[in-house]
Amino acid sequence: IDELLAGGVAGKRVFVRADLNVPLDGTTITDDGRIRAVLPTVKALADAGARVVVASHLGRPKGTPDPAFSLAPAATRLGELLGADVRFATDTVGESARATVAELTDGQVAVVENLRFNAGETAKDDAERAAFADRLAELADVYVGDGFGAVHRKHASVYDLPGKLPHYAGHLIATEVGVLKKLTDEVERPYVVVLGGAKVSDKLGVIDHLLEKADRILIGGGMAYTFLKAQGHEVGISLLQEDQVPAVKEYMKRAEERGVEFVFPVDVLVSAEFPDLKTKAPAHPTTVAATAIPADQEGLDIGPETRKLYASKLADAATVFWNGPMGVFEHPDYAEGTKAVAQALLDSPAFTVVGGGDSAAAVRLLGFDEKAFGHISTGGGASLEYLEGKTLPGLAALED
Ligand code: 3PG
Repeated sequence: IDELLAGGVAGKRVFVRADLNVPLDGTTITDDGRIRAVLPTVKALADAGARVVVASHLGRPKGTPDPAFSLAPAATRLGELLGADVRFATDTVGESARATVAELTDGQVAVVENLRFNAGETAKDDAERAAFADRLAELADVYVGDGFGAVHRKHASVYDLPGKLPHYAGHLIATEVGVLKKLTDEVERPYVVVLGGAKVSDKLGVIDHLLEKADRILIGGGMAYTFLKAQGHEVGISLLQEDQVPAVKEYMKRAEERGVEFVFPVDVLVSAEFPDLKTKAPAHPTTVAATAIPADQEGLDIGPETRKLYASKLADAATVFWNGPMGVFEHPDYAEGTKAVAQALLDSPAFTVVGGGDSAAAVRLLGFDEKAFGHISTGGGASLEYLEGKTLPGLAALED
């Protein structure tokens, strides 16, 4: 983007592919981190006199307009953060978008409606995606890719559109890639990885890759129960991906062979019921050994001994990558595990990367100062796939 700005953008229509896929409660944005993350790019372009057209997906609507997934709240928030009037087009490439873009004056910003209201955005068929990208291309003279959270998607606005316009990487993508490079190239050791979240299946690729890179892997969250099961323990009614048990066993064997230390919960907070996340009514969990989860109970957070254990395993780290909360942090009775990991990261001098929408949101919602962490990535799937060593369509298209 520096090259683009140096060449002058005044009067040019610049399409910014952002990731404004923010969590919503109705129309209220509960975490605006992803909007703030794209501000440097949008601001720089607007200040330089560009006519900025911001586009993004939000959620997973089915290729047709769905008011529940409107980008309108994100556009409003972008305007508040910029301190400027941000215009909003009620469609993505239709009459409203064309008129809104045509009326933009130099330095003005517009947001077009959710890209995924158009089937062409996510189409598997190359020609269908290309046709939608052609319509997007009509809205702009230049493309800036800055939606890091979506670069792992082979979607029209991410992958096809850059090929149709002069294209540049925005500040956010440049920062994210710079940081993730530090975790793949010359990583400082000990390199400790903390993985949590619900599903093991989402993390298999990254575990596979990290077994060659990391010194220690700490497992928490819902996925821990599949590991406990693989070790022969009963997990009650906890989240379990039975079909992943063989893969997990294989990884545990490889870790042992390679001298990678796998660390699992030694105790967990359990309850017979999933907590009410709306009322946050007290859940009264009990603490049990991870090897003794009662048959009618589910594990919902790591326990106090595990919190201490994980803090000690993070204390000597030089580099840490953390993806996925340790428990159901949205409920105060199950937030302590995630808090303890966040605190341990703050206490350690390690270079720390927090990746993944959920862990990043957890850090902010639990009241931690995000600036105290080395880097909080705006990409969940994207940062995991980067660390897996995969080619990311949105980055490949920009490098091309
Ligand atoms: C994310 O939230 O990880 C990105 O915005 C990508 O969203 P998606 O998984 O729906 O493609």
